Amino acid sequence: MKTTGNTVFISGGSAGIGLAIAKNLSAAGNKVIINGRNEERLTNALQQLDNATAIQGDLSIEADRLRIAEELKTKHSDVNIIINNAGAAFGYLLSETTNTHEKAQIEMNTNYFSVIHFTELLLPLLLEKESAAVVNISSIAVYGSHKFLPTYGATKAALHSYTVALRQTYEESKSLQVYEVYPPLVNTEFSAEIGGANGIPPSEVADELFIALEKDQFEVPVGETKAYAAATREAFASLSRNRG
Ligand SMILES: NC(=O)c1ccc[n+]([C@@H]2O[C@H](COP(=O)([O-])OP(=O)(O)OC[C@H]3O[C@@H](n4cnc5c(N)ncnc54)[C@H](OP(=O)(O)O)[C@@H]3O)[C@@H](O)[C@H]2O)c1
Repeated sequence: MKTTGNTVFISGGSAGIGLAIAKNLSAAGNKVIINGRNEERLTNALQQLDNATAIQGDLSIEADRLRIAEELKTKHSDVNIIINNAGAAFGYLLSETTNTHEKAQIEMNTNYFSVIHFTELLLPLLLEKESAAVVNISSIAVYGSHKFLPTYGATKAALHSYTVALRQTYEESKSLQVYEVYPPLVNTEFSAEIGGANGIPPSEVADELFIALEKDQFEVPVGETKAYAAATREAFASLSRNRG
């Protein structure tokens, strides 16, 4: 995938990993459209970017997804990459919480159902392009659960499953690439309550994605996740060797 001259929509591009990705892509000569719920954060982020604009909205709300997709179609019809980055997570203990199903519903809605819907809305526009990409930001949590994030891992595992199916669906088309980025613990506001200060900087995630786009490397494990990805690959290879 070329890494310059694209028009890129980044959900949750006003902070953390999304903003780091926006900075890299904007510096490399791409037009960047960032999104977030809070106008002030969007304005601050835009001051750090070149050739960038913002669309405010909450992607976990259906009406906002429809409005944002419409605005992209009418005002930014050259968009050829969407980065589904906005996410939700609750850090808590199952033993100390009673409304866990409500937390799980919010996480699943933002991290899975909303991504599927938003991607579906944009797919016709992306498929018109000679070269297009969907980039989903999942997590190291795809590889395992954690007692302090008891209902989040399943949402990223679900996103992973959808991402693989989307990639397989459009494999033949050659024009649409589907990437999945698996950050480990990253030092952002999102991870503050689970010790995020010990995590890698968001720029490391953005740098890995940039390299992956250059190499058409659709699976993008970052940092600690690389060991899990390698072990999984080896397990599958060993299974098929034993079968064969
Ligand atoms: N940080 C980690 O350790 C870590 C590890 C693995 C995976 N991830 C994944 O990486 C992604 C980004 O996380 P982050 O750590 O960069 O978070 P962050 O620093 O808290 O930034 C989140 C961004 O998303 C926006 N946002 C949140 N909910 C939104 C919504 N419903 N609609 C639109 N925008 C929304 C926020 O702006 P507003 O608040 O103004 O809306 C902000 O721009 C998430 O999907 C997360 O699951 C994070």
